[in-house]
Amino acid sequence: MKRFYSVIRLSFNSFKEVYSFNRSIVLFAILVLFVSALSTYFNMYLSKVIVDTIFNKDLKFFYLSLISLIVIQIVSNYLISLSYSKNNELNYAFNNKSDEELIDKIEKIDLIHKENPKFNADFSYLQYVKGKTYELYNQLNEFGLKVVSLLIGMHFLFNINLLFCILAVFFGIIKGLFNVRPVKSRVKITKELQRNAIKHSYLYDLLVGMKNQKELTIYRAFNHFKQKWRLQKEIFDQQQLKLEKINNSVFRQQEILEIIFNAIIVVLFANLVKFNNFTMGDYVLTTMAVSVTISNISMVIGDYTRMFENSDHFNKQAEIDSYYRTFLDNPNDGQLDFSLLKNIKISDLNFSYPNNSVEVLKKINLTINKGDTVAILGENGSGKSTLVKVLLGLYETKKSHVLFDGIPMNLINKESMFKKTSVIFQDFLQYHTTIQDNIGIGDLENYHNEKRMLETLEKVDIKSLGYNLQTSIGLVDENAINLSGGQWQRVALTRFFFKENLELAIFDEPTSALDPLTELRLFKDILSRCEEITTIIISHRVGIARKADKIVIMENGSIVEQGTHKELIDLKNIYYDMWMSQQEWYQEDEKEVLISTSI
Ligand SMILES: Nc1ncnc2c1ncn2[C@@H]1O[C@H](COP(=O)(O)OP(=O)(O)OP(=O)(O)O)[C@@H](O)[C@H]1O
Ligand SMILES: [Mg+2]
Repeated sequence: MKRFYSVIRLSFNSFKEVYSFNRSIVLFAILVLFVSALSTYFNMYLSKVIVDTIFNKDLKFFYLSLISLIVIQIVSNYLISLSYSKNNELNYAFNNKSDEELIDKIEKIDLIHKENPKFNADFSYLQYVKGKTYELYNQLNEFGLKVVSLLIGMHFLFNINLLFCILAVFFGIIKGLFNVRPVKSRVKITKELQRNAIKHSYLYDLLVGMKNQKELTIYRAFNHFKQKWRLQKEIFDQQQLKLEKINNSVFRQQEILEIIFNAIIVVLFANLVKFNNFTMGDYVLTTMAVSVTISNISMVIGDYTRMFENSDHFNKQAEIDSYYRTFLDNPNDGQLDFSLLKNIKISDLNFSYPNNSVEVLKKINLTINKGDTVAILGENGSGKSTLVKVLLGLYETKKSHVLFDGIPMNLINKESMFKKTSVIFQDFLQYHTTIQDNIGIGDLENYHNEKRMLETLEKVDIKSLGYNLQTSIGLVDENAINLSGGQWQRVALTRFFFKENLELAIFDEPTSALDPLTELRLFKDILSRCEEITTIIISHRVGIARKADKIVIMENGSIVEQGTHKELIDLKNIYYDMWMSQQEWYQEDEKEVLISTSI
């Protein structure tokens, strides 16, 4: 019973949500539902009258009833189709609203959860459930309509013969109960389906994605991944077929039952004719009312089971929401404005990702003075990118180990910090829209400052390619021009040059795709702009690191060396070895460019 109330409550909540979204369409839909319930009533009544007038040879009433029946049917059909198209409009608008809410929700969830593969599955489920509010609203409406027309059908039957009324209710309940049995397995299969959908969709996108074509071609990997995709798709299809099989077998059993029930009613009617004064119209009315009552009762039960199923999905959604609740309730935002006067201090920082207990940052202690440039070097996987993400507050740690001028990070307002920070991530985004978007997101407050944008474009040599701010780049727009890897990186760097009021700049391998001459030139520009700005540069190039005020070497999650270029060279340890080995390369090749003291 508790469950029943919870299903009804959830359905009413969904109804209320849709109602407050667009009252007029919802009220119109309810009005039409009542009209269609009433038209069922008149249909049955007028059908009886028509049959009786035929047999009584009363042509005047026959035509009158027939015309009334036609008018009622046409009007109700018109209203139903109008309501159907209005409901479609509402459905699209409501779904867009739900999508927006989902985007807002994802924005508030901490990055560390979003980078956990489990999140993919959870989020795909949330996307599936988001459509359920509208579905529940519809189901509640349908439920209401069927209850009303059920009462109408029973009213007729009750007036003709109580036995028919009781039998129709009895048969309807039996038919409806067939819907109840498979609910649990349907819910279970649907959940599995949602989780599996991610796998085959990923493989499908891999095979058809434009960016993937060259590598798949050169490795002749189409067949390999096609087989993997087919395997996943077959698992998915089998679950889908299982679901359809359950639905089909319920439907078939119900159809057979209905045939038997109708036959019983006809036999009963034939036997009762002797004792009652039934007219031909009574026969028509009885068979119509019995069949409407049986199917209404069974549909009411069916609707309830679907509402039950959907509310079960809502419970799962609440479970997922509560898992991410800490971040929704406490969007890890402090009150103090960000402004760096002295230094950034990282003290005793340990960090591990939630899906792996291995610590990727171990006892990190580092001080970065205001205005300094710090270079972080270290082998792949040593924790460099993770360190800057923790420093930016993108991964919340239980206790603040990062202090800005002695103030723990959790007391500082992130929005104010991000406004004064520019980050070029290692896996920076390529926005397949306009050049203006790609630069503008660096400083949205200056989005319409075209003069500044064009100057920035010139700085990274994109303007010379003949592109303007409205040029579409990437692969999405039909007329777009795709850029080379290095050109994309140059475009990403414009976000740093474009940003005004910078206090903190972070570069994670910012020039790895650039040709040496461009790299040298842009680095000069970056360093000259960063003189007053606190800067962190992650790079594998020691030539770049030597220009920094402090060099940090990371190994396996720990800082193993830190100091100036001279101090670390004198130490003759890891940095020294890096320097010597890379110098060898440069001597042979790019010495002029990268070791040049003119950087
Ligand atoms: N989202 C994640 N979930 C779990 N582990 C992660 C995640 N991101 C990174 N790691 C792990 O953390 C460790 C450090 O990764 P990180 O990206 O910080 O290294 P890095 O020093 O930047 O390496 P590279 O030079 O290759 O960019 C690696 O072992 C990596 O597998
Ligand atoms: Mg990295």
